[in-house]
Amino acid sequence: MRTETPPTVRLADYRPSDHLIDRVELDVRLDPRDTRVTATLALRPNPAGRPDAPVVLDGDDLTLLGLALDGEVLAPEAYRADAASLTLPSCPQRPFTLRIETRLDPTANTKLMGLYRSSGVYCTQCEADGFRRITYFLDRPDVLSVYTTRIEADRETAPVLLGNGNPVEAGDIPGTGRHYTVWHDPLPKPAYLFALVGGRLDRVAKRFTTIEGRDIEIAIYVEPGKAERAAYALDAVERSMIWDEQTFGRAYDLDVFNVVAVSDFNMGAMENKGLNIFNDKYVLASPETATDADYAAIEAIIAHEYFHNWSGNRVTCRDWFQLCLKEGLTVFRDQEFSSDMRSRAVHRIGEVRTLRARQFPEDAGPLAHPVRPKHYAEINNFYTATVYEKGAEIVRMLRTLIGETAFRAGMDRYFADNDGRAATVEDFLRAFEAVTGRDLSRFAEWYERPGTPRVAVSGRYDAATRTYRLDFRQARPGAGADAPPLVIPVSLGLVGADGPLDQAVSDRVKDGVFVLEAAEDSLTFTNVAAEPVPSLFRGFSAPVRVEASLDDAARLTLLRHDSDSFNRWEAAQRVATGLITAQVRGDMMEMTGADRFVAALDTFLDAEALRDPAFAAQVLALPSEGDIADEIGQEIDPDAIFAARRALRRRLGAGLCDRLLTLREALAEPAGTLFSPDAASAGRRALRNAALDLIAVADPATGAELAQAQAAAAPNMTDRLAALSTLALLPGEARETGLAAFAERYADEPLVLDKWFAIQATIPEDGTVERIRRLQRHPAFAMTNPNRVRSLVGSFSLANPTQFNRLDGAGYDLVAETVLALDGTNPQVAARLMTAFGSWRRLEGRRRSLAETALRRIAATPGLSRDVTDIGTRSLA
Ligand code: ARG
Ligand code: ZN
Repeated sequence: MRTETPPTVRLADYRPSDHLIDRVELDVRLDPRDTRVTATLALRPNPAGRPDAPVVLDGDDLTLLGLALDGEVLAPEAYRADAASLTLPSCPQRPFTLRIETRLDPTANTKLMGLYRSSGVYCTQCEADGFRRITYFLDRPDVLSVYTTRIEADRETAPVLLGNGNPVEAGDIPGTGRHYTVWHDPLPKPAYLFALVGGRLDRVAKRFTTIEGRDIEIAIYVEPGKAERAAYALDAVERSMIWDEQTFGRAYDLDVFNVVAVSDFNMGAMENKGLNIFNDKYVLASPETATDADYAAIEAIIAHEYFHNWSGNRVTCRDWFQLCLKEGLTVFRDQEFSSDMRSRAVHRIGEVRTLRARQFPEDAGPLAHPVRPKHYAEINNFYTATVYEKGAEIVRMLRTLIGETAFRAGMDRYFADNDGRAATVEDFLRAFEAVTGRDLSRFAEWYERPGTPRVAVSGRYDAATRTYRLDFRQARPGAGADAPPLVIPVSLGLVGADGPLDQAVSDRVKDGVFVLEAAEDSLTFTNVAAEPVPSLFRGFSAPVRVEASLDDAARLTLLRHDSDSFNRWEAAQRVATGLITAQVRGDMMEMTGADRFVAALDTFLDAEALRDPAFAAQVLALPSEGDIADEIGQEIDPDAIFAARRALRRRLGAGLCDRLLTLREALAEPAGTLFSPDAASAGRRALRNAALDLIAVADPATGAELAQAQAAAAPNMTDRLAALSTLALLPGEARETGLAAFAERYADEPLVLDKWFAIQATIPEDGTVERIRRLQRHPAFAMTNPNRVRSLVGSFSLANPTQFNRLDGAGYDLVAETVLALDGTNPQVAARLMTAFGSWRRLEGRRRSLAETALRRIAATPGLSRDVTDIGTRSLA
């Protein structure tokens, strides 16, 4: 068993850099195996740093070829250099320049950090600490520099050469077959925002005039032949720019905005200044190859990276502990954008589904951490649902607490006060304190401790006084006994048998919001004509678990009558969760309860299905197996959850069958309809496919027939894939034929084959592990491509609970072996995959010990990366 743990970086140890770098001139001569980088750095002592401190530059896997100070080549005894750092023990106490020449091998760079090649295209990824793999540098976000980059490459293989900022010069180098471009980025930035690209790429572009009158060009670069598939992303960039101008008064600040899609990428995308680099999965879309969900994700991620131009780039982070400052805020901004582009209520449901699926389990397991962590061993393991999604919820709560107008004023203030600076969470909150005059120090507690708070609520109606009293109690598991209560905005209202009771009032409720600040508190509504049902945490106003003692009848009243769509959906989810968990606990599926639920859904569909199909599809989609597991919380038996959930789905499918068949007819698109990815069209498809899914679980023969017909004739990928997914859940010949036809049709489309891998990896049957092992040898699969690994093994570990948690341990073994096989080449992706074991302690005993064995086997392997070691250490702690 490995005992050493990686060194820990602590927030409490932060101190300013001893040196600053004002200007960087980079000369990068690209070559597949022997790239040369010359960096000329204008350094000076930092007045805020320690006097006479040595210069210690970060490096990672670098070979130093030359070093000069103010033009003089340095003698070997004047510095110490190795792969990981470059130290000048004594250096001038005045501004000076260092010229550093390094050599790198982009082809051998399988970590996909720093400068690497993706299908022949040179590209970079520098966040969080990849720039030090290009040259020795003060690779920390509070060192901001103005960059000029000259990029040189073979003209034939790299006709396109892109850098940060604006293009200033380009030309040929006669007689060499090489050419170059020079880019200048006038705005100081940290090294993690550096990027360059070189390769053969096609381009789509459009001109745009910003609200400030700047004439700019937006361009997207993609693999040759794929230009039409970038049209939707290009449009999304323009809509993002307009939205940020209208909503936050933020305009773009350079002459060009470039987006490049590459096929090998560790994450979703990266907001490098003026040169966003994307996983091509989040750029390329056509009706034939992309689903509605893909279109929505492209829109959201394009917006996310663009919005970083202000929340992240113009105002950056002082240190990596402040990561939520840019990520939580930017997720909030992209969520708001998508809500404005689509249906706000439906989008909110999706946000909460994601939060509950990813963040709640993370916060309840050994990898839990505060939204602003206090220490880390490997920062790349902190790009988490907690930092991103819970971070966004904190910003949303802030807006709920202070109101929209003050929120906008505070954002303006934040950008104005911190433009060009590396800021902290305190700087963010200070801006809102300044415009509201409020003290937000207690609110700041949300950043400090892990764990999902619980809020218990009970209500009592007094007919004599026509009053309704609500008692609240908050608690924080895992936060420690000393944790002060949180400031929790509770959006709420009362609902009666015929609709919202708007005449009921409470002096503790302002604009529909009650602020719970104490461990316990209560409020009383007056003027309440009859016993009401409380609608609590409307719109999911705080990231908490709510324990309200409402019976199903009360919840079904909310489903029917609440004015808040989110809570209507939530009511149906709660009823379904109750029915499923009761059965998991061994009670038989409570017949009358299930029947009442079916009847309520029938009424609901009758009234709403055609009015708002997207919303209706959300109501029909039951809580996932993961949601149920998270609700049960301990001694989890995934097989029992699967069986109980399927039983309820059968009841729904059987009870609603005729209505669902009719709905499918009513929602069918007339032949020849042109595909549109807009939210309304997508919503009709979603409901139609949700109906198919329920029909198939109740009546497999009919389901198979419908799914086969749809798979064969679907005019778009959304319907084709939905049909194939339904088919995949029905064992037999039709499934294998359908899968084979799909594979043949898309043999040359790696992103589509990813969907094919994922569908097979999530079949909840014995045999899936073996099927995945076969698919790992499929010619389209490659361990070097993160998208392939995520599709085949990632989706298995995250979305196939019965098979991942197989009782013979074969599921754990498969994932553990993949983690180990990947760690030598791409530790970041290996570590991410390993987080699938994060909930192991909550499993029932037999699985718990099998999962622990798999984890210990990984952890005991010699020579592990820091990334995987860190996840192993924390998971087993
Ligand atoms: N900042 C990127 C984003 O927009 C994520 C980059 C994370 N990269 C990494 N290697 N950890 O969310
Ligand atoms: Zn981001």
